[in-house]
Amino acid sequence: MHNPSRSVCSNQEDLHPDLMTLLQRHRQHPFRKPISSHTHDAFARFFFEHKGDRRSFILDSGCGVGWSTRNLAALYPDHLVLGIDKSAVRLDKAVKNTQPAETNVLFIRADLVDFWRLLLLHGVSISRHYLLYPNPWPKKKDVMKRFHAHPVFFELLQISPHLELRSNWELYAREFAWAVNFATGRQFQVETFRPQEPISPFEKKYCRSGQALYRLAIDLT
Ligand SMILES: C[S@@+](CC[C@H](N)C(=O)[O-])C[C@H]1O[C@@H](n2cnc3c(N)ncnc32)[C@H](O)[C@@H]1O
Repeated sequence: MHNPSRSVCSNQEDLHPDLMTLLQRHRQHPFRKPISSHTHDAFARFFFEHKGDRRSFILDSGCGVGWSTRNLAALYPDHLVLGIDKSAVRLDKAVKNTQPAETNVLFIRADLVDFWRLLLLHGVSISRHYLLYPNPWPKKKDVMKRFHAHPVFFELLQISPHLELRSNWELYAREFAWAVNFATGRQFQVETFRPQEPISPFEKKYCRSGQALYRLAIDLT
């Protein structure tokens, strides 16, 4: 993982020249990679235990140690906030830090790319989706690892009508906005912001080191 106290260093200066071609290809060829068994099992447990849950769901994708998940849960007390991450070590910390009174938080170890597809396949409705400081993959050659150039992107946009992306790399947020426009015809602006209270560990580190932060709030209702 990149060092969050340093600003992003990339050999790319503007939108990636292959972004449109990649998105055209992803639109024509739906993503068919088989779902990993561990994510399938994790989703099945969640679905079985919560299919009758009357609360709306919020997704904190790539929640790391779960601080943002718990902050979102405090902000939306009548929702169930799902913190998803692939790292068992970070999720162990998340669970340990969560107090018994925090009853609207659930941590799930899963691969996002598979979990997102399972949510769609099973018609699970997500009222808000947060993508906070995803790994930027700043090297030009790694463009397809960025979520907006990944084959799962069209499905990612269908999970929730409200998606909020935050990044310390302006180009990532601008590319994401461009890809949303390509996929939906809708235009959303990247804004610079400075939170009064950081929501996640990465946000806190970036604020401390004086970096600019970028937010893209997408409303597809
Ligand atoms: C840069 S960290 C940001 C953590 C947190 N959102 C924050 O703002 O402090 C990115 C997180 O996304 C997780 N992640 C990256 N790709 C993932 C994937 N395909 N599935 C699940 N988690 C993933 C990593 O394990 C890591 O915890």
